[in-house]
Amino acid sequence: MNVKSCPNTNWLGKRVFHFKVLASTNTEAKEGNYSHGDIVLADKQTAGRGRKGRSWVSETDKGLYFSAVLESIPFKNPVLFSFLFPLGVKESIQRLYNIKPKIKLPNDVYIRDKKVSGVLTETQVIAGKIQRFVVGVGVNLNQTERELKGLEGVATSLFLETGKAVDKFSFLCHLLETVEGLMENLTEEELVKQVNNSIMWKGEEVYIPDTGINGILEGINKEGYITIRTKDGTTTALSGDLSLRRKG
Ligand code: ATP
Ligand code: BTN
Repeated sequence: MNVKSCPNTNWLGKRVFHFKVLASTNTEAKEGNYSHGDIVLADKQTAGRGRKGRSWVSETDKGLYFSAVLESIPFKNPVLFSFLFPLGVKESIQRLYNIKPKIKLPNDVYIRDKKVSGVLTETQVIAGKIQRFVVGVGVNLNQTERELKGLEGVATSLFLETGKAVDKFSFLCHLLETVEGLMENLTEEELVKQVNNSIMWKGEEVYIPDTGINGILEGINKEGYITIRTKDGTTTALSGDLSLRRKG
């Protein structure tokens, strides 16, 4: 392991703990002795995970896999905070490559209809109080189709989209600069607005598997709940670990 530092941030990523291999950067960030603003970065993960126990393909060193440790957040509402890193990933890709990714609610970033990044936000709670947030981010950088094995037709990488190799550490620091800026400058209202301007399938018919809920995807409301306008004209607001699917 070695420790690096992003040059242009004030507090996020001033200490980047760079490992060759970890089971999961989220697990290391939760179990190790880290403090506010620290980043745990791994070239490879042997047990990278997504939501609901799903796995995150991360056995090549061509992707970016890291977790940020945050002891406090600038928002009262942690649900809103969970959109901040997806927004940062989307913004960074847009600024660097002039392509327009979309946020697939609640936690992914897509380029056209393929997933380029996923964010897994976990909290450590002691005596009913959130002590810290561990935000795990996976971004596909330099993988070829073959290296995204098992994800054909589902995932893409920045290399596949642009034809250019991406420098991992520069991309990480650029992303952290973007996120730090958003954390310092965005109000909750502005965050909601920016997320709503970036949503995949907005205005389209979606459904939530196993719930019977379907309708037109509107976006997120000011609490960060996902809103869907159902056939009878009412709007349903949902939060939590849900999955959206497009109809048809
Ligand atoms: P939803 O958000 O609709 O529930 P999801 O399939 O995106 O669905 P997540 O738990 O957010 O679910 O993400 C985990 C999923 O991401 C895996 O089941 C797999 O399909 C996909 N996945 C795993 N590794 C990668 C990767 N490196 N790049 C892109 N997608 C991946
Ligand atoms: C998802 O799409 O469900 C979230 C995927 C999150 C993957 C990242 S990779 C770095 C960090 N460590 C993990 O085990 N998961 C997150």
